[in-house]
Amino acid sequence: MLKIPVMSNQLLANKRGIIFGALDEQSIAWHVAEKCVSQGAKITLTNAPVALRMGKIMELSEKLHAELIGADATSVEDLENLLTEILGGKIDFILHSIGMSLNVRKGKHYTDTNYDFMQKTFDISAISFHKLMQSALKLDAIADGGSILALTYIAAQRVFPDYGEMAESKALLESFARSFGYHFGTLKKVRVNTISQSPTWTTAGSGVKGFKEFYDYADKMSPLGNASADACGDYCVAMFSDLTKMVTMQNLYHDGGFSTMGMNPAVLNI
Ligand code: NAI
Repeated sequence: MLKIPVMSNQLLANKRGIIFGALDEQSIAWHVAEKCVSQGAKITLTNAPVALRMGKIMELSEKLHAELIGADATSVEDLENLLTEILGGKIDFILHSIGMSLNVRKGKHYTDTNYDFMQKTFDISAISFHKLMQSALKLDAIADGGSILALTYIAAQRVFPDYGEMAESKALLESFARSFGYHFGTLKKVRVNTISQSPTWTTAGSGVKGFKEFYDYADKMSPLGNASADACGDYCVAMFSDLTKMVTMQNLYHDGGFSTMGMNPAVLNI
């Protein structure tokens, strides 16, 4: 039988991007990277040096013919090296897909928070976004009209008790997007937004206590069900493309409708 190839719209033809945070094939960033390349983009993959050793990002880099550069996102020096190494043409888009809570990982209850862990969590999950944007602005690394995205979660607005200090990390991350979005927009016409994604089965996601239960709850509560990592890839492509040039400083829900729901009879039966 004749196989008809799936046509790509080439929405990102002639665009260059950096994708942070692909660890393995479950990672949201992994799916975003695949979608960006299938839409014609040339990308650089990056992750913390430890993830380069332990994860499967090397596989992805080979598959997508994408260069791979290690960078600890909490290190301004590493970020500047990364941005300098791939210069020689400006960057059109960046995905920040980085999150890690030390207190959650070590099983510390929210009411027994370790403050050194908390600061590290904020640095990795939120301040790294500011560091990235500040480095990119100083180095004039982003093309005019470029697009910067970070992934976030609705725990920034509502209480999810087992999400720990990641809730405050996400609130900070979203605030950085708004504040830096003003400066980047005014100076360079660069867009900065956050995408608030449904619960997704990944290393970071499934580390949260009771993840299966709240994954199922969100899935039932949302009229469209949970948004997959693959669908998140599509949304990121749209936000990196020239079709969304006037969208900035927004927190955009990509959650199948979850954020607007009050009650769904479907959850009464779980
Ligand atoms: P993941 O575990 O696959 O990705 C997290 C990434 O952060 C990993 O690749 C890890 O190596 C990287 N990372 C950690 N410390 C780093 C550092 N110092 N420097 C550079 N990279 C570092 O998990 P996932 O779920 O794909 O997470 C991506 C983003 O999506 C995170 O911001 C997460 O909070 C967010 N998100 C995830 C949801 C979920 O349910 N999985 C829901 C909503 C948002």
